[in-house]
Amino acid sequence: MSHFLFLRCMSSPLAAVVLCAGKGTRMKSEKAKVLHPLLGRPLCAYPLKRALELGASPLVPVVGHQAAEVEQAIRAQLPSATLRFALQQEQRGTADAVRSAEGALKEFSGRVLILYGDVPLLRRETLEALVAAYEAGKGPLALVSTVLEDPTGYGRVIREGGKEGGQIARIVEHKDCTPEQRAVRECNAGIYLVESSFLWRALAEIRPQNAQGEYYLTDLVELAARLGPVASVEADATEMAGVNDRVELAARARVMQQRINERHMRAGVTLLDPATTFIEDDVTLGPDTEVGPLVTLAAGTVVGRDVTIGQGCVLTASTVADGTSIKPYSVFEEARVGERCIIGPFSRLRPGTELAEEVHLGNFVETKKARIGKGSKASHLTYLGDAKIGAGVNVGAGTITCNYDGVNKHVTELGDGVFIGSDTQLVAPVSVGDGAYVGAGTTVTKNVPPGSLAVSRVPQVNKEGWVARKKAKQG
Ligand code: UD1
Ligand code: CA
Repeated sequence: MSHFLFLRCMSSPLAAVVLCAGKGTRMKSEKAKVLHPLLGRPLCAYPLKRALELGASPLVPVVGHQAAEVEQAIRAQLPSATLRFALQQEQRGTADAVRSAEGALKEFSGRVLILYGDVPLLRRETLEALVAAYEAGKGPLALVSTVLEDPTGYGRVIREGGKEGGQIARIVEHKDCTPEQRAVRECNAGIYLVESSFLWRALAEIRPQNAQGEYYLTDLVELAARLGPVASVEADATEMAGVNDRVELAARARVMQQRINERHMRAGVTLLDPATTFIEDDVTLGPDTEVGPLVTLAAGTVVGRDVTIGQGCVLTASTVADGTSIKPYSVFEEARVGERCIIGPFSRLRPGTELAEEVHLGNFVETKKARIGKGSKASHLTYLGDAKIGAGVNVGAGTITCNYDGVNKHVTELGDGVFIGSDTQLVAPVSVGDGAYVGAGTTVTKNVPPGSLAVSRVPQVNKEGWVARKKAKQG
């Protein structure tokens, strides 16, 4: 290695290799470890997103166990990233895993960030510090280390002369440590920034001569130290914590939940019970919004200011405009809700729901592909599917759009100012013109002209004394 010169220029291109090949035996799962969800996203989405935020391109996930499923999940999580997948056939150690990315980075020359797919809590700031430390140094490699109370199991950062401030000489895995090396508490986080031409040449030199018979990526450090000082940044112990079993998965999820909740609270959102509030990482909440206990706000949800979200609500990929109040136990999925609406309790807004301002939907109201105009109301026990509803409409209790004929879906249109009496069935395709009334209990099968009344009920007949006569007959 000593004959090898490496060249680097400032701010050269950045790529990332993220190790996602492991099975995760201790998860006791049919599913690959990196696919287990943490706050709604697969574990491996977190380090990949951090690399993307840093500007790394391409991203090279190294897959192995359940490669196809892992690849599909990563593509779904990062639809706009430049991804090149590398396959590690057999798990022969971390150096072998990174080496399997060489083909995917054949054309690439620059800095390679190396991350683990099962370490979700790593912060962007730490990676930025790593980049800065690398740029400030002269060597081909920089790494992240952390000081642990109990370093058992981790690779130790061994410095020249065994001193704290000394240059990094190498990393020694726990199983390969001498008793003195075991006493070192500075540990290797497994996160590196490496110059690409050095990386591929050095990886080719690594041999599995160690206690575990594995190709150790950590051997890179000693090779790099021969060429120049190895820069390091120190991270918090929580950041480098991985996930090996489901207890650790829950513990990491709790930290992520706290981080996200604190970010929103500091930005002016009230969380009545942060411990039971689950907000995924790409949710936006406006100031003065209040979120009750046991609420889940899932990916892609955007909530304006002054919104109240009551206990037990679950919102997924939905938009809620300013001043709206969502009462407890309402469920939204891909819905758009305008300003100052009042929704719930127990409303269910399904995909394609679009509400204008000041719409009121009450308990047990379900909407799907329904556009509802300003100030319209459906307060109780109603299904509105494939519906276009104007402004100022009143939909009575128990109204149902019969949108499905067993083969196709059909549209119901209600004009502005329409009044629908309780227990109405609207058999689509059908329309009710502006200002028309529909009497309670009507089954609407024909279009109703504007301004008219539609009733389809049989006129009521009262048979006096009927009950007594029936009982007499029965004897
Ligand atoms: C590794 C480091 C150790 C460091 C620790 C921090 C090495 C040799 N040791 O140890 O210095 O303190 O991380 O957590 O690198 N993987 C593959 N393919 C493989 C082997 C591993 O994809 O062939 C993946 C694993 O799924 C895992 C990650 O790489 O996500 C780390 O591998 P693991 O074997 O757990 O390394 P450690 O023993 O933890
Ligand atoms: Ca590990």
